[in-house]
Amino acid sequence: MKTKADVNLVKNFISEKDFSDIEPALQQARESLLAKTGAGAEFTGWVNWPSALLDSGEIIDRIEKTCRRVSAFNPDVIVVIGIGGSYLGARAVYDALTPPIGQPRPEMIFAGHQLDAGYHALLMQHLKERNPVVVVISKSGTTTEPAIAFRLIRTLMEEKYGNEAAQRIIAITDEKKGALRTLADSQGYETYIIPDDIGGRFSVLTPVGLLPLALCGFSVRELLEGAAQCEKELSANNTISTNQAMLYAAIRQILYRQGKHVELQSTFCPQLATLSEWWKQLYGESEGKDKKGIFPASLVFTTDLHSLGQFVQDGNRVLFETFLSVAKPEKDIEIPVLNSNSDELLYLEGKKMSYVNRKAEEATRFAHAQGGVPVLALEMPELNEFTIGEILYFFEFACALSAYTLGVNPFDQPGVEAYKQKMFELLGKKK
Ligand code: PA5
Repeated sequence: MKTKADVNLVKNFISEKDFSDIEPALQQARESLLAKTGAGAEFTGWVNWPSALLDSGEIIDRIEKTCRRVSAFNPDVIVVIGIGGSYLGARAVYDALTPPIGQPRPEMIFAGHQLDAGYHALLMQHLKERNPVVVVISKSGTTTEPAIAFRLIRTLMEEKYGNEAAQRIIAITDEKKGALRTLADSQGYETYIIPDDIGGRFSVLTPVGLLPLALCGFSVRELLEGAAQCEKELSANNTISTNQAMLYAAIRQILYRQGKHVELQSTFCPQLATLSEWWKQLYGESEGKDKKGIFPASLVFTTDLHSLGQFVQDGNRVLFETFLSVAKPEKDIEIPVLNSNSDELLYLEGKKMSYVNRKAEEATRFAHAQGGVPVLALEMPELNEFTIGEILYFFEFACALSAYTLGVNPFDQPGVEAYKQKMFELLGKKK
């Protein structure tokens, strides 16, 4: 893997014996995952997916064909309708690889990822003045939030484009069932299938993530190459010292047993904030069940050092921290040389801002570890489709290992239903 784990600052909390004691459980977890014999094995289609997709080339070719077809409309915005695993992956990659200021065209905009009326009202107004193409994504095809957003947006598209609207809408859903499948077939939308054996939060490398990203100009081949490289390594190696997913999962579970019940994913690269959101869903929905699990939370530094930094340094010691670091920034800037100390910055004149950020990160990691927080770092050489594809797959694989070691099924989410039942009751939905 191009991304390397730095475990120096967890060594005060975890002994070699801790690692050797837990290693057999990790080996068992990995074998169950690869042999498809563990809990929820029917949802492990993602394990060999990157290499299989690259080998067959079929879906990638089709995605490229769709991009060519849609480019005739010259869209300036790709609207992605979906929630949870049906939108977070595309958004994570888009945000990680898109400059935060001066968005490129087409830009990616989201809908149906919440129920805020103001947001959707403004979005409708905005889309009237833009030239959108719409990707609606729902595996079940029945989720309320994207269903409402799609009703709003397809009405707008039909008013704006008449018969052409159907060609500007692509649906990604189940092959046979669900309201979205029925609607797509009756309206003649182009459709992509979400495989039965891949759950929502593991679906970023299927058309769910790939199609919106390709429509915005990202290389999905590179994304898959990075994931496939990671797949190869994690499938081949069976020890904590040779398999970084086993190492990460082992550290998480050892610390959990020590009472470290909250994992902070921290980054000094704000573009990775949404990747942390994706990671939170992946780990939260996969592990948080049967009254067990590590609560995943995320921080963006240095911003959060001026808010939650106090708690991390000095509050309840239930935390451990995983830094997502990027060695080479995409752009850099020098602090102006003014030969002046009026702002007390003479000592930094001529230094790169990335150097200051890096030193801030080193200092924070050190200080947090000194304060009793085990600190692990995942160091990415740079941000591009390959490294992002790699880290996405890494987190998926490690998540499954960690959940199996914890003793839960990583691939179900029974707790998500409770609010829905009550909401349907309050809204008067007929059974
Ligand atoms: O990971 C999951 O399974 C969930 O987060 C789903 O992705 C989310 O609930 C959306 O479901 P659907 O794609 O069926 O609309």
